[in-house]
Amino acid sequence: MVTAVAQRLLSQRKQVDDTLAHFSLNRDQLRVVRDKMRVELERGLRKDSHSSASVKMLPAFVFQTPDGTERGKYLALDLGGTNFRVLVVKIRSGIRKSVRMYNKIYAIPHEIMQGTGEELFDHIVHCISDFLDYMGMKNTRLPLGFTFSFPCRQTGIDKGSLVSWTKGFKATDCEDHDVVDMLRDAIKRRNEFDLDIVAVVNDTVGTMMTCAYEDSKCEIGLIAGTGSNVCYMEDMRNIETVEGDEGQMCVNTEWGGFGENGCIEDIRTKFDREVDEGSLNSGKQRFEKMTSGMYLGEIVRQILIDLTKRGLLFRGRITEPLKTRGIFETKFLSQIERFISTYTLIIALMHLQSLGSTCDDSIIVKEVCGAVSHRAAQLCGAGMAAIVEKIRENRGLEHLEITVGVDGTLYKLHPHFSRVLKDTVRDLAPKCTVSFVLSEDGSGKGAALITAVARRYCDKRRQEWLKLRIDKYLYSMRFSDETLLEIMSRFRRELEKGLSQDTNPTATVKMLPTFVRSIPDGTEKGDFIALDLGGSNFRILRVKVSHEKKQTVQMETEIYDTPEDIIHGSGTRLFDHVAECLGDFMEKHKIKDKKLPVGFTFSFPCAQTKLDEGILLTWTKRFKASGVEGMDVVKLLNKAIKKRGVRFTDIMAVVNDTVGTMMTCGFDDHRCEVGIIIGTGTNACYMEEMRHIELVEGDEGRMCINTEWGAFGDDGMLEDIRTDFDRDIDRGSLNPGKQLFEKMVSGMYMGELVRLILVKMAREGLLFEGRITPELLTKGKFETKHISAIEKSKEGLSKAKEILARLGVEPSADDCIAVQHVCAIVSFRSASLVAATLAAILTRLKDNKHVPRLKTTVGIDGSLYKMHPQYARRLHKTVRRLVPECDVRFLLSESGSGKGAAMVTAWAYRLCGDAQQNLRHSSGDHAGNGRGGESMEV
Ligand code: BG6
Ligand code: BG6
Ligand code: GLC
Ligand code: GLC
Repeated sequence: MVTAVAQRLLSQRKQVDDTLAHFSLNRDQLRVVRDKMRVELERGLRKDSHSSASVKMLPAFVFQTPDGTERGKYLALDLGGTNFRVLVVKIRSGIRKSVRMYNKIYAIPHEIMQGTGEELFDHIVHCISDFLDYMGMKNTRLPLGFTFSFPCRQTGIDKGSLVSWTKGFKATDCEDHDVVDMLRDAIKRRNEFDLDIVAVVNDTVGTMMTCAYEDSKCEIGLIAGTGSNVCYMEDMRNIETVEGDEGQMCVNTEWGGFGENGCIEDIRTKFDREVDEGSLNSGKQRFEKMTSGMYLGEIVRQILIDLTKRGLLFRGRITEPLKTRGIFETKFLSQIERFISTYTLIIALMHLQSLGSTCDDSIIVKEVCGAVSHRAAQLCGAGMAAIVEKIRENRGLEHLEITVGVDGTLYKLHPHFSRVLKDTVRDLAPKCTVSFVLSEDGSGKGAALITAVARRYCDKRRQEWLKLRIDKYLYSMRFSDETLLEIMSRFRRELEKGLSQDTNPTATVKMLPTFVRSIPDGTEKGDFIALDLGGSNFRILRVKVSHEKKQTVQMETEIYDTPEDIIHGSGTRLFDHVAECLGDFMEKHKIKDKKLPVGFTFSFPCAQTKLDEGILLTWTKRFKASGVEGMDVVKLLNKAIKKRGVRFTDIMAVVNDTVGTMMTCGFDDHRCEVGIIIGTGTNACYMEEMRHIELVEGDEGRMCINTEWGAFGDDGMLEDIRTDFDRDIDRGSLNPGKQLFEKMVSGMYMGELVRLILVKMAREGLLFEGRITPELLTKGKFETKHISAIEKSKEGLSKAKEILARLGVEPSADDCIAVQHVCAIVSFRSASLVAATLAAILTRLKDNKHVPRLKTTVGIDGSLYKMHPQYARRLHKTVRRLVPECDVRFLLSESGSGKGAAMVTAWAYRLCGDAQQNLRHSSGDHAGNGRGGESMEV
């Protein structure tokens, strides 16, 4: 009797063991699985075999893992796992690098999973709407990353058409449709909020990115949950289905489909086939059906039914719960295997709808679960071994160290799955050290990170595209070096024309002798007054140059207004105003009774025959006072001063601001022999050889020449590079037909140039959605200082927004980028043109000196040069490119041109003193402190 019972038990045991033996895979079998997986991976990557491959190897259009610089606020959807989640993800970069997430889980009812596509996406949008309300974010248009855990054929990061539903989804009219379009359409249908869908991402990819944010070695993503799948970073050259060979791209393997071509039939059991036949996608996802949470319970159930039918279990009685498909969820499988004591197991099984009742039954159920889950883990391990080996070979490494980011309830909850998986990988891929990192944050975080990267990439591409469009529109304002060299040689010819006696009368660049013959030599001293008229400020200065041990300069400055009605009124009024300001200055500084020599920086073209005479040739820039052109400004000012009854020494010298600047900089750097102004106006002076200055007697030494390069082009010489905008500016100016180079270059005109361009672009619908406001149409409303603000690298775009808003336009982000680029083109053109003309002066200096390399210093002043964030760098770079044979130091005049004017005055005063002394010595005249009648030169 005992023997009979024992035999029955033994036979029962054997039958159970025989049944479960089909689930036990030995090492060789697993190696075969690994190798077959490898073959399918390769077939999926190759163009010729891709369409028939069971592992689809779908390009994911993710080119890199996160680098920590990602930031911003994103919305993420996570659809396709056990839960549907909507999340907000806030990413910070830099030292405060962190990711904060807020999420809500929503149910997707069964009938919606398997209803129509429209119903499914409407439901998704309904959940988003609820979440946005919950977060109070309905009105913020956030960028969205969409984790969609199904196979998608992507053609870009924001385009993916569903290949086929897997797992529990079967909504109609979705396969072969773009999921991003379907989501967008549903958002439109709801018409409540707007989102910027930037990326569609598989959950494996999201998981890889989530883990890679913490561990840069993470280049594989694994999901062992409801479904089963892997992605990894593949070399572009191996992905034949995508153009390009450079770098890497993530590939979503969709390994769940492995075996669809029959290649693993040898290891599939009748239970696997039964599960497949009862599934929503029979014949498909065969590997997934042997390895993932959605199906393992089903396999267990099929085995239990079989064993029960054969009288080996549950006393041969098939209960209703056992007949129910899906009764065994992954979590139950995990729970059953976790229970150690049989007693607790029985209770659990009874709880699980009375599936088990006896102790033996419970043991068998646990064994069945163990066999099924063990095989699943081994198969995933074999598949993973194929992947890591492939990566190792791709990289030609003896040994690969790599991290796999993992997610999924099976991996997370099952007590043994992860261990068996790891053991198998170790066994089947001995040349790889593989670490597995659990994704704690789900794939939504990864999707947000991908969105951040994609957005940055899109923004960059979009900006490049916008800039390219503007480059094309303003192509005539962009010069090649070839053109600049041509302009440089034209200007060089102009210099020569202006210097020669014969051609000077018809030359546009007047090359005015200044009678300044050298830069300061360090011996200057005294107490002076300097007037500085013609730049953006009218300044009066007291300059004290002392000479104890070392030469030092002390300056006191006052800025005075020059109202429009005065600079456009009569000359007498203008000089009376100057004299009045001077009187005020002397009073304020308590020097009314001091007889201080005066240097007059007068920043306009003056013909000089001596230092203390300047015949104004023509007004430039904003000035237009009547009765001054053709007159000696020194005389006019002296007259006005005398009229006020102010007692002090006469004006000793009149200098152009370029000369004042050169002298100011020459004080600190004795190599300085060029002075340029890039401010309201533009101009340059330099030290020319006397023998070349035919307008002044004498061949010895050098003299500073005020080129008045602002007039370059007044004879039509620059017509090929002038644009219609330049012509408009000229027509609307105070001096049409004059100072044409200045009008392309200097601060007084650049803002206006930009304004005219913006108006034209808006009219053509290229900006501001075609809107033009009265402010935008008002002359002078866009100033050069705005260009400087807009071109600032950090806050430039927000400045653009602010400035344009003040002009009444509500600019879009693209408008701001476009306006910034317009500013850049206009200011770049200015710097390039100045570089060309300055280069001409430098080559002339070099030739004059007969040296193979010129080492020199250029003194510079002017608000455009000083305030614009990029101007100086661009100018310096271009000059160095155009004249590589010159080593140029650019020296900013920190103290304006007044100090330089004082230097000139010091010399003039000393010469005058010497002359007086000589006169006194020869005539015995000791009276008076005025100057002699001689012309003075420095
Ligand atoms: C979640 C991820 O953590 O895991 C999902 O956020 C993913 O994107 C899921 O699909 C997979 O696991 P399961 O078990 O929920 O299918
Ligand atoms: C000042 C000089 O620093 O710069 C002036 O002192 C000169 O002499 C001026 O005219 C040029 O710049 P802006 O921008 O004021 O025209
Ligand atoms: C299924 C899907 C796949 C997904 C996996 C895990 O296999 O086809 O895209 O990654 O499930 O959720
Ligand atoms: C104008 C003047 C010139 C001056 C320059 C810079 O071009 O004509 O003399 O140097 O502006 O202020």
